[in-house]
Amino acid sequence: MIKPHGGYLVNRIDSKEKINSHNKEVVMDKMALSDLELLANGAYSPLTGFMGEKDFQSVIESMRLANRLPWSIPITLPVDEKVAIEINVGETINLVYDKITYGVMKVKDIFTPNKYEEAKSIYQTTDIQHPGVKKLFERANTYIGGPIKLIKAPKKDCFQEFYLSPIETRALFKELKWETTVGFQTRNPIHRAHEYIQKSALEMVDGLFVHPLVGETKPGDIPSNLRMDCYRVLLKNYYPANRVLLSVFPAAMRYAGPKEAIFHALVRKNYGCTHFIVGRDHAGVGDYYGTYDAQHIFRAFSEEEIGIKILCFENSFYCRKCENMATSKTCPHDQAARISLSGTKVRAMLKEGKMPPKQFSRPEVARKLVEGLAKTPIKMGD
Ligand code: ADX
Repeated sequence: MIKPHGGYLVNRIDSKEKINSHNKEVVMDKMALSDLELLANGAYSPLTGFMGEKDFQSVIESMRLANRLPWSIPITLPVDEKVAIEINVGETINLVYDKITYGVMKVKDIFTPNKYEEAKSIYQTTDIQHPGVKKLFERANTYIGGPIKLIKAPKKDCFQEFYLSPIETRALFKELKWETTVGFQTRNPIHRAHEYIQKSALEMVDGLFVHPLVGETKPGDIPSNLRMDCYRVLLKNYYPANRVLLSVFPAAMRYAGPKEAIFHALVRKNYGCTHFIVGRDHAGVGDYYGTYDAQHIFRAFSEEEIGIKILCFENSFYCRKCENMATSKTCPHDQAARISLSGTKVRAMLKEGKMPPKQFSRPEVARKLVEGLAKTPIKMGD
């Protein structure tokens, strides 16, 4: 089994720990709550808690933790200045969301980040229209860091059985006798281009780990419960059951393109994947990143440092002349022969109750989307 990032799987779940009601309380937002759970179950190994200033600064300056291990996204706990001023380094605080204490943190560091530097480094823009930058500036301005413990698992509203921890997925891959497993990140319904790159990858490895992100996403993205219906119907009809595992990744989406691609890959290594797919504009939004920037960024590291093998795919499409899914690597025909639909165009079609063509999306998936969006319309995003 592949080694977790940093060598061992962190486990900071302690359901027996007594909550001390005399501890000061820090209220987390949804993003921090999901990070707390992922820190505790080892998905973010080797991190054992929210970042202190040294790691934070090192990540934004060099894409590495202070100990030089590659890491590209700050995992921080922002608190209001007024709350932070009351907290002392060395004390244990209760981590609360919606009046429920989910964990504790031993405070090691309290600091004020330069958010413009953070935005420039992580998102490559300070444009407040960027959903990740918007979120960064909406969050509180002081960060507190230190090792955490998760005492109570956050409640799952639906598809509970699809939440698996890295320990559980590693055990399942072993049981399935997969020596090599490719991880697939997505925040969208799976369309034919996704299916094409997944299955191309699956030709080379033993198993496919479909791992959609179901934490916070921006307005305009398809909600996770509807996406889960789509994944299930697609896998049932078009994928070999013994070669695919569907599970969910409860992190918030950052939309940080290249830097998020590194983060997504390292985390999937912790779940036990040996390979990870990076296609066109991975974790991108709007025109902030170049089409293949999320692939090129891995050149900053050696293969050993990243540990998980990155499988890069070009923009995929259906070609009417080839009568196949293809990329410009395999198809000689011009643009006119290719069916390429933008996310915006597809959302507009779905909103009008129109099915996208079957060369773009499997009809079973398109049907779920049309029905789902008729019931619960989404706000149009980009
Ligand atoms: S995201 O999480 O990366 O934002 P998205 O669903 O858009 O999710 O993409 C999932 C994965 O498929 C990413 O690795 C992305 O690069 C890849 N991908 C999406 N569309 C295509 C396409 N048409 N051709 C090749 N790769 C694609």
